[in-house]
Amino acid sequence: MKCRKCGEKASVNMRQHKLALCREHYLEWVPEQAERFITKYQMFTHDEKVLVAVSGGKDSLSLWDILVRLGYQADGLYIGLGIDAGIGYSAESHRLADKFALEHNLKLHVVDIEKEYGQPIPVMSEISHRGHGKPCAVCGLTKRHVMNRMARDLGYDVLATGHNLDDEAAVLFGNTLSWSMEFLLRQGPVLPSNDGLARKVKPLCRFYEREMTAYALLRGLEYIYEECPFAVGSTSIYYKEVLNRLENDRPGAKLTFYLRFLEARQSGLFVASMNPTGHLHPCTNCGQPTSAPDLCSFCRLIDKVAGQQSLVSNL
Ligand code: AMP
Ligand code: FES
Ligand code: ZN
Ligand code: ZN
Repeated sequence: MKCRKCGEKASVNMRQHKLALCREHYLEWVPEQAERFITKYQMFTHDEKVLVAVSGGKDSLSLWDILVRLGYQADGLYIGLGIDAGIGYSAESHRLADKFALEHNLKLHVVDIEKEYGQPIPVMSEISHRGHGKPCAVCGLTKRHVMNRMARDLGYDVLATGHNLDDEAAVLFGNTLSWSMEFLLRQGPVLPSNDGLARKVKPLCRFYEREMTAYALLRGLEYIYEECPFAVGSTSIYYKEVLNRLENDRPGAKLTFYLRFLEARQSGLFVASMNPTGHLHPCTNCGQPTSAPDLCSFCRLIDKVAGQQSLVSNL
């Protein structure tokens, strides 16, 4: 297989795009495409300050790398979840996020959940009794809260995450199976700012996971290979496997599924039936929008964790 641009031996063959490229041209192609998507979906401009949520994985580190290469003002945010699971998962992901920031002379904000809120995610999850013994629900709630808070408090215009096409197609698949209109309406490359929250964007949403792995490897980025240990057996991994089987037989199916959804969404198909921001008001403690009458779910969680701690210290 030869590179379409220079005729040298190709390093990456993308059947879904009928395109093969050598290392050099692949490393040019990825940022060019990213720039195209950023502009097409009006994610942000060169004048805006971007906060990139960096997990230490290939997607978010590649995203940070691409934005910096494109000349955007992009700082990082790492959230220390306190997940060890016998492999020092959080410690290692923190080390890799730090390493990237240091090597590229970039600013990385770090929020350590245990230091800030008293307990690491797995303990918070146990105390809360949410998520049937798995910490993913509490983890997701906490990450969303912290990302919103940091972007708002530090004055960033936009928060960028490393969700790729495989992530987005799996979520879309789940939401379509249950026809969750409210979630379908909110699932786009851009979630506009509202109620004092920064705009949220997913600049990698049209890249296959495989394409991001190839980018990280060819760029020589050091990233954590392990998925979160708690993700094993999750529904989203199952949906990804199903979609990969489909993609294998019909290259491009995953991208078409996602893009046709975006077109339908753009044409207003879901808007008439739902108003996702209806009935929201600021949480009385943290000010983030919530549909609850006083405290948001995150502040209620933290109240519960603090209550448990004072019980223990009074024993
Ligand atoms: P996940 O929810 O683990 O699939 O991650 C989706 C995106 O959320 C990643 O690409 C990152 O942008 C962001 N993210 C996940 N974990 C963290 C973390 N510990 N710190 C900062 N950002 C994170
Ligand atoms: Fe949060 Fe796995 S439980 S990353
Ligand atoms: Zn080439
Ligand atoms: Zn709150």
